[in-house]
Amino acid sequence: MRKLAKVFVSLAMVGLFIGAPFSWSAAKNDWPMEAFEPDLTNLPSLQNGFKVYANHCLGCHSLQYQRYGRTADDLGIPRELALESVVFTGQKIGELITTSMDPEQDKAWFGAAPPDLTLEARLRSPEWIYNYMKTFYVDEDRPLGANNGVYPNVGMPNVLLHLQGVQRYDAATGQLFLEPGTGSLSAEEFDQVIYDLTNFLYYVGEPNRLERQRLGIYVLLFLVILGTFTYLLNREFWKDVH
Ligand code: HEC
Repeated sequence: MRKLAKVFVSLAMVGLFIGAPFSWSAAKNDWPMEAFEPDLTNLPSLQNGFKVYANHCLGCHSLQYQRYGRTADDLGIPRELALESVVFTGQKIGELITTSMDPEQDKAWFGAAPPDLTLEARLRSPEWIYNYMKTFYVDEDRPLGANNGVYPNVGMPNVLLHLQGVQRYDAATGQLFLEPGTGSLSAEEFDQVIYDLTNFLYYVGEPNRLERQRLGIYVLLFLVILGTFTYLLNREFWKDVH
């Protein structure tokens, strides 16, 4: 009887593990997501993403598990240039990418402190960030005048409004539309900025991904060579055994 109970509990646990991802996705909002395909080999995109991040996001969101120096090296930015173009906090190149904002004050201003975004692409997925950054819209009922399609009632202000322009939500069709001529970038240019920004956050989430992929090829190559010799040796050993 106890055995049966044990089996039952194990089965329930397995069910929980398998079912968990589905229940998470069910709890998410059902905003139609645009696909996002990261590209870590595109260094200009990653460099631009870093620049956009430093200019528009770092004031509130730190990347506290990542250092300026390593980021510059990985993205092929000379360190002097990085100091000039992305380090605005007076920090040194070897330091962590922190922000000078005070979390307590942030909470009072925005209702929630801006979280660190080093692992955001792993927590939410790059696709989520890409769509989140594109779906801010005007909502006068919100304290900061902005709402978001992917993250309803978000506490973050629409910080890229001047680039994207005024976006509104049409409740009848459930779609967002832009007021032409209200932003400094065209829709395509803005998409590219968000692509680069998301690509950069994807890199930051796991900076040694590229290195790992490169190493993986050598490991496979080594296994093939080792396998060949092992096979030949095996043949040699068994040659005279009938
Ligand atoms: C003025 C401060 C401020 C700036 C600048 C800012 N954010 Fe935010 N952001 C916030 C706050 C506050 C939240 C938390 C909102 C909440 O939980 O309701 C947030 C939340 C987020 C989240 C969701 C975090 C999560 O998983 O809950 C992402 C992603 C994000 N911001 C990305 C960005 C990016 C990218 C930029 C730069 C383009 C940026 N933010 C600029 C204040 C800011």
